[in-house]
Amino acid sequence: GKITVTVIKADVGGFVGHSSVHEELLATAREQLAKSSLLVDYHVTHVGDDINLIMTHRQGVDSEEIHKLAWDTFVACTEVAKKLKLYGAGQDLLADAFSGNVKGLGPGIAEMEFTERTSEPIIVFAADKTEPGAWNMPLYKMFADPFNTIGLVIDPKMHDGFKFEVLDLIENKKIIFSTPEDLYDLLVFIGAPGRYCIKSVYSKSGEIAATSSTQRLNLMAGRYIGKDDPVLIVRCQSGLPAVGEALEPFARPHLVSGWMRGSHSGPLMPVSVADATPSRFDGPPRVIALGFQLAEGKLIGPQDFFADRAYDRAREIALRIADYMRSLGPFEPHRLHLEEMEYTTLPLVLEKLKDRFEKI
Ligand code: 13P
Ligand code: 13P
Ligand code: MG
Ligand code: MG
Ligand code: MG
Repeated sequence: GKITVTVIKADVGGFVGHSSVHEELLATAREQLAKSSLLVDYHVTHVGDDINLIMTHRQGVDSEEIHKLAWDTFVACTEVAKKLKLYGAGQDLLADAFSGNVKGLGPGIAEMEFTERTSEPIIVFAADKTEPGAWNMPLYKMFADPFNTIGLVIDPKMHDGFKFEVLDLIENKKIIFSTPEDLYDLLVFIGAPGRYCIKSVYSKSGEIAATSSTQRLNLMAGRYIGKDDPVLIVRCQSGLPAVGEALEPFARPHLVSGWMRGSHSGPLMPVSVADATPSRFDGPPRVIALGFQLAEGKLIGPQDFFADRAYDRAREIALRIADYMRSLGPFEPHRLHLEEMEYTTLPLVLEKLKDRFEKI
């Protein structure tokens, strides 16, 4: 039968500030998931102040029971966060009660259902202090750039390319691009990651290859409540990118939105789970990558990929970029451009000052 991999994440209270997740919350999440008879397996981790529930099951995508399990788990964690008076307890739980599907309620979700192959290597990426569009460049490199993924050139099973499903998060529309034919058209949109996000990637035969969380918290809440720190699931090998091809884009840190008050741009630094504790100016933004081999739905792993020394130089580059970006202080492009600042606290200040303008 088919297996479903579901990753649901939320920030239900930071330890300390927005830096990390308190061990008691992770323990609570593990206890909650351990009680479920629906899961084949689970792994609980965190990146920065976001808890990630990695779950496998046979209920398919959009399962009310699985979504409710995640919601109830985050509610239980919120209780602990409140007791410890952690920062922003319950921050990402926008609704008072669960109603059928976790989408639109605050937590981020990525899930995919497929028939487990003879060997099924998957990577779960999770990032903090950024937004869903942060995956655009890495996904483009993994699935469409032959300078990153040699398999596109030399593997006959990849040579036909892939299909990209891109969402317009402002107008709530979607469009499919087929690469390599539509390469330039694809880039028109995904080069603007604040608005256009790659939701999923499929092989040309329609097999799911990658899927991401695309919730925009601020658009849902209508006010600033932090960034929508995203997750991404990528299947690897046998007609899909090799594990190393899926990891390679993160060796050259790119600039993403979401640092300090969700209002700044900074480098996405690949780190181990142990180093996923953004603190300098609440950052810089972090990404972790956990590898698993699925075995009848069991999550064999994780392998903490970015703990590898091969990413030391990427971290060094990220820290240099961080120094440079910080030197710009309150100026763009370190500070996000005005359109993206719309969902921060800046408009409240603009409002206060508007009467001081005179006509010229
Ligand atoms: P191994 O020979 O170590 O299995 O590596 C195969 C490979 O293709 C790595 O990219
Ligand atoms: P989070 O979205 O990770 O809570 O970060 C919010 C923030 O403003 C950090 O400065
Ligand atoms: Mg937070
Ligand atoms: Mg966060
Ligand atoms: Mg957030």
